[in-house]
Amino acid sequence: MKIGLFTDSHYCKSQLGGGRDSRASLEKIRVSMEAFKQEGVDICFCLGDLTDHGPTDTKETVEKCFIEAMELINSYGIPFYLVPGNHDYLMMKAEELVEKAGYRIPPYVVSTEELDFIVLDANYRSNMVRFDIAGVEWTDSNLPPQQIEFLKKALYDTSRKCVVLVHENLDPSVQEWHIIKNSEEVRGIIKQSGRVKLVLQGHYHLGANAVIDNIPYITLAAMCENKNNYFKILNI
Ligand SMILES: [Fe+2]
Repeated sequence: MKIGLFTDSHYCKSQLGGGRDSRASLEKIRVSMEAFKQEGVDICFCLGDLTDHGPTDTKETVEKCFIEAMELINSYGIPFYLVPGNHDYLMMKAEELVEKAGYRIPPYVVSTEELDFIVLDANYRSNMVRFDIAGVEWTDSNLPPQQIEFLKKALYDTSRKCVVLVHENLDPSVQEWHIIKNSEEVRGIIKQSGRVKLVLQGHYHLGANAVIDNIPYITLAAMCENKNNYFKILNI
């Protein structure tokens, strides 16, 4: 099956710092979705940070950007899921995202004929309170016990191969601030299950590729960085 992916579009109306061109992201999302349609992609994901909040943004402009991006993506009719990123929780609560733009709160499993996609949310601080409630601290991401249990159950309840998706990094080779604090435990569960075919992440804007315990851990490069568009279509 074909999987369409992009990440870290950081779409908003402000000029962000560094090489980030957040205002160009809506057009890049459109280009990605056109390519997904052209290639007959079966399912697509944004691996987090769909939107952002820059210096000249208000809650209203962020909300508008979120709805605009979700409507654009959904207009293509390809099943789409947003893996939440830390920036997605900057201005809006998860429940608001559900109500305004049809967002789905992880953890959940999307089962297809060939694969189970396990969508997780590591936007939790060390006290295990989610960023939208506790406040975002991007260097303190954790997968809470309830999701650890969910992951174990999802991996053991299925007879299909699985893809695990989470915004922050399970791959320990990226810069350490980006790594989920209890990533070692999560990698252990993934290894032990023998069910995981692939792990997909965003967050670390440079992107990375690793093979851990014979499982590819792909970190997609951020769409908002420079003039490139780093969307990807995987055939697995
Ligand atoms: Fe990001």
